[in-house]
Order: sequence, then structure tokens, then C-alpha cells
Amino acid sequence: MRKKIVAGNWKMNMDLAEGLKFTASIDKYFKDKPSGKAQVILCTPFIHLAGASDILKHGKVALGAQNCASEASGAYTGEVSAWMIKSTGAEYVIIGHSERRTYYHEDDKLLSKKTLLAINSGLKVIFCIGESLNERESGKHFLIVKRQLEEGLFTLTENQMDMIVLAYEPVWAIGTGLTASPEQAQEMHKYIRDLVKEKYGNECAKKMPILYGGSCKPSNAAEIFSKPDVDGGLIGGAALKKEDFTAIVEAF
Ligand code: 13P
Repeated sequence: MRKKIVAGNWKMNMDLAEGLKFTASIDKYFKDKPSGKAQVILCTPFIHLAGASDILKHGKVALGAQNCASEASGAYTGEVSAWMIKSTGAEYVIIGHSERRTYYHEDDKLLSKKTLLAINSGLKVIFCIGESLNERESGKHFLIVKRQLEEGLFTLTENQMDMIVLAYEPVWAIGTGLTASPEQAQEMHKYIRDLVKEKYGNECAKKMPILYGGSCKPSNAAEIFSKPDVDGGLIGGAALKKEDFTAIVEAF
């Protein structure tokens, strides 16, 4: 049985007080009401990590960051290293989100370097892949996802793949209200799992969680999560509202 995961990606939202208050309310919700099959993860901005870790430490909700530096330490003004993230008590980091690929020009090679640093620091990586609208409309979506996996991730060993959670996020579905249909999501998730199988074998592919992200909300989560190769969601906008986020977790 594969691990089911619902991760909230807050992106650049909530100040310190708002974020910690929200963290406490999510922590309390899942202490009172078990999240069932799903591991819940909050991926907060860096400033919340230490405080949120304190709040979450005796509960069931895990904590993650949204990015890490591409160097281990040193004179890199403004950067936050994977080890620093780990030292807050966080367990996860998102790497390769399309917003980082697009706005900060992070390419496959850089993402592969960040992923290795994160794993070596003891963090699990939520590694994001997905095509743009243009790429889908021109029929290149499978090729793009294959390249992102081969260049960004498949440099890892099979053992290191235990630290990976994959997230398929079609760029055209992020924050747009457009969602991949459950069939489109399943088709791509199956393709991704087959690529993992080809490279690392059946055992690795069978246990790899593959999350869907892109305008996931309470009204569509259950149908998307019901597909055999969809193991949960990476949630943006709907992760900022307790009612929506908890309803998505309960969609399993
Ligand atoms: P939305 O759920 O707001 O579309 O964002 C998805 C996302 O980018 C999660 O990482």
C-alpha cells in the first residue's frame, strides 16, 4: 500500500503571526480528528519553519519548506540551505516547482544539485514536474515530463529514491481554476510510474507516491484521488483555507 499524502504549499502567503495561528489550527484539527490514510504536510515560507515545527512536534502533521539553496553553505547572501531547513525540524522540501522553474530560471541541472543536497541533509524531497499549456497543446507533454525526470531526478541511486515524493503539476492548471481531468491525471501519473519502473525497477515504482497539483479543491479532490496512480495532492490556493484543506485531506 502506497503512502497517501496531502501537502499544502502556502507559496508566499501569510505573515508570521497568521502562519503560526493557521498551523496551530491545522495541528489541532488533525489531533482531534485523525487524517485517516493520508500524511498531511504543511510547506510554509522559511520564516515560519522554526515556530511551526514547535507547534507540530507532538502531532501528526509534518512540515516542509518550498525551496532550498543549491550550495551547502557559505557566502550566498539571502539563501537558506537544506541543512538549515532540516535543523528547524522540517522533514520535507519542495524542489522544482514550476514557479521556481519559470520565475527564477531553475533548470534541470540545478534542481538535480538541490535534490542531492536536500537528501544528503536528511530531507525528503517533493519533486515537481509538469508541462505548460503550450507544451500540452503541441503534444509534447510526455516528452517534457520525461526530460524533467531524466535530467533532474534520475541521477539518484535507487536507495536515494526512497526520499522522493513526485508531484505532477501541469502548469496550465496551477492557480487557473482549470484542473486536469481525472483521466488526464491518471494517464500522466501512469506514464511517470512506468518511467520510474524502467529506470529503478518495479519495487521502487510501486512504492513511489505521485501527487497531483493544480486547482485541486474539495469539489474535485475525491474523483482525482480515486485514480489508481494518484496518491494524493499538492495544494496551493485551497491550502490557505482550513475548511478547504481539511476537506481535501478527508477526500480519501
Ligand atoms: P493551486 O492549487 O493554487 O492551483 O496551486 C497548485 C500548486 O502550485 C501547488 O504547488
